[in-house]
Amino acid sequence: MKTIIEPFRIKVVEPIRLTTPAERARLIEQAGLNPFLLRAEDVIIDLLTDSGTSAMSAEGWAAIMRGDESYAGARSWYRFQDAVQRVFGFEHVVPTHQGRAAERILFGLLVKPGMVVPNNTHFDTTRANIEVNGGRAVDLPCAAAADPADPSPFKGDMDVAALEALIAKEGAANVPLVMLTVTNNSGGGQPVSMANIRAVSAVARRHGVPFYLDACRFAENAWFIKQREPGFADTPVRAIAKAMFDLADGCTMSAKKDAFANMGGFLCTRDPALAAQEKDLLILTEGYPTYGGLSGRDLDAIAVGLDEVLDEDYLQYRAASTAYVCDALVRGGVPVVQPAGGHAVYLDARGFLPHVPPLQYPGWALAVELYRHAGIRACEIGTVMFGFDPHTGEEHPARWDLVRLAIPRRVYTQSHMDYVVEAILEVFERRDALRGLRLTEAPRFLRHFTARFAPA
Ligand code: F0G
Repeated sequence: MKTIIEPFRIKVVEPIRLTTPAERARLIEQAGLNPFLLRAEDVIIDLLTDSGTSAMSAEGWAAIMRGDESYAGARSWYRFQDAVQRVFGFEHVVPTHQGRAAERILFGLLVKPGMVVPNNTHFDTTRANIEVNGGRAVDLPCAAAADPADPSPFKGDMDVAALEALIAKEGAANVPLVMLTVTNNSGGGQPVSMANIRAVSAVARRHGVPFYLDACRFAENAWFIKQREPGFADTPVRAIAKAMFDLADGCTMSAKKDAFANMGGFLCTRDPALAAQEKDLLILTEGYPTYGGLSGRDLDAIAVGLDEVLDEDYLQYRAASTAYVCDALVRGGVPVVQPAGGHAVYLDARGFLPHVPPLQYPGWALAVELYRHAGIRACEIGTVMFGFDPHTGEEHPARWDLVRLAIPRRVYTQSHMDYVVEAILEVFERRDALRGLRLTEAPRFLRHFTARFAPA
């Protein structure tokens, strides 16, 4: 059989309220043309994020009932720690309420003013948590990443020569850590090859700089290594994931992605002295080190999710369902980032709306139109998110203007995705009529969450 089916049945459903185009035009206007400011009940298909929006399994919900809410040393903590150590292999595990809390603790300890942290591409919270400590977050994507249509298999790779050059220029003492984001979310959800993880790890080690993985979507990355990198076709995904982490000194993780959890995260290291400092900070702002701001039931749900996400039938379905949307759009002539990534399909808004200049936010304008047209909520990854430098107050076009259609795990069916494809093709038909936007208000950091817009 060539049809790849959802390897699960549906046992609980959540109704979707349907809206009309006229209602949606009013609702998005009231939201200041910012999809983040919409009410979720006014959205038909919510592709804003794959974070915390997964459907949990029967096993996951059963684990919720097993949650031990003891303040210290709960059974849930030990099940969580065991699962993380089994899958990731790091000795020290610090639980946090989500990924950015792990980032805040790690960068708060390691990043001093003037220091530089390289990454293939920093996610927005990663960048902001470095900048808030006075550091500089530098993106070093590989050359293939620059062209959305380039079909190279590992466009999440870091430019290793650029990393060498950066360390030579800044001095290793000014680089507190090197990071790799797997998969590379802000760079189109593209995977990083094992060869690149190995090469980056070797450079970092040679300079005595710690090497960290931003591990949010580690299982999807491991699946792509199995599918696309020579030599891994017969290696279990679980072993590939372990081999990725074996090359690192630690990781930050948002369990809201590849752990199917609605909330949670963690920070790992092999360094006992650093772990002790991290736990001191954790107690100050998150919680005692055996819960770190999470309920016992959250810890148990994560423990189950970390095993489920490595199921290869699930990963095959996951990659196939993302590719299904990407391929349909490519057939319709819509400019998208290729090849399909793991958790999302990315529209290339500069290719979609060539008549809208980057400083009129083509990605944002397209996301607003997808909502008006079909009630689809998507997220700009472009000049609104990354174009403003909070230190200089200057605005420049971001490297690209994308619209991310993030696909929640195990949530939407193929007919939902057919609706999404049809809507995008209809908007593409009348793309010449779309206009750009201007900002009417925006905060200094992470401005996309609360900014308001008007037609340019
Ligand atoms: N790193 C990456 C690569 C991420 O994608 C995210 C979150 C984080 C760190 C922070 O994790 O949300 O648990 O604090 N990404 C979500 C997204 C929000 O929509 O892509 P968090």
